[in-house]
Amino acid sequence: MVTLFCIFELVKKYAPIGVFDSGYGGLTILSEIQKRLPQYDYLYLGDNARAPYGTRSFDVVYEFTLEGVNELFARGCELVIIACNTASAKALRTIQQKNLPLIDPEKRVLGVIRPSTEIIGELTKTKHVGILATEGTVKSLSYPIEIQKFSPETIVTQHACSMWVPLIENGKHATEAGQMFIKEDVELLLQKDDKIDVIILGCTHYPILKSYIESIVPSHVKVIAQGGIIAEKLEDYLVRHPEMEVKCSKNGTTHFLTTENSEGFNKRASLFLHQEIKSEHIKL
Ligand code: DGL
Repeated sequence: MVTLFCIFELVKKYAPIGVFDSGYGGLTILSEIQKRLPQYDYLYLGDNARAPYGTRSFDVVYEFTLEGVNELFARGCELVIIACNTASAKALRTIQQKNLPLIDPEKRVLGVIRPSTEIIGELTKTKHVGILATEGTVKSLSYPIEIQKFSPETIVTQHACSMWVPLIENGKHATEAGQMFIKEDVELLLQKDDKIDVIILGCTHYPILKSYIESIVPSHVKVIAQGGIIAEKLEDYLVRHPEMEVKCSKNGTTHFLTTENSEGFNKRASLFLHQEIKSEHIKL
């Protein structure tokens, strides 16, 4: 009886922070969150089998993202971070406004676009900012709309990098051909506006390309990855929301779920996180 009670207590207390992405990209966010907030439990879900999301329609991205979020809720998460710009752009608001009140009004889902746009005005001197993102994120206009709210004088130029996610998901981004595509896209962005002094990597897959991009842009151009910003904003959120903070379990564990083959995920994901990963295959 006592043992059963202890097991119940343990099960009850597992309320990891969920981190969802179409594939590997969210790992760049998870890694920064883990560094800043190592005490919490995390449950990562990569929908690798259906990635990339970037070229999919609004409805499909919404449907897939909702399935991912529901899966994380079903596995105990009270708070889920959609660590994917495309899904944040196309699904976050509907999930927050339409689905959450019906699923459980106490649960929360946060995205990655707003935190980056809040601070952009402080980073640019020329007030010319470039966004590199997926086609879906670019077409949603989420970045220009959000930046306009916080820094109305900033001119935002976007460029969609349709090849980057497939290159990264397939481990081809550091090849000569891969780098050729990447360089061409970066140059196209800077040709659209040569006053850009800050580039936001508006896709969570792209931080893995950060040092290569820095090596090809003029030295005064800052390249911003979202991970550190999201981690800082999450810490701040948890301070401002103690009712959520107490619910998040704190055993320092991280578990990984993927909709693709788990062996492939383990191998590739460890390149992003620099740690040994044992994932579980699930179906959504
Ligand atoms: N990591 C996703 C993002 O931030 C990639 C989207 C995709 O799967 O195309 O947008």
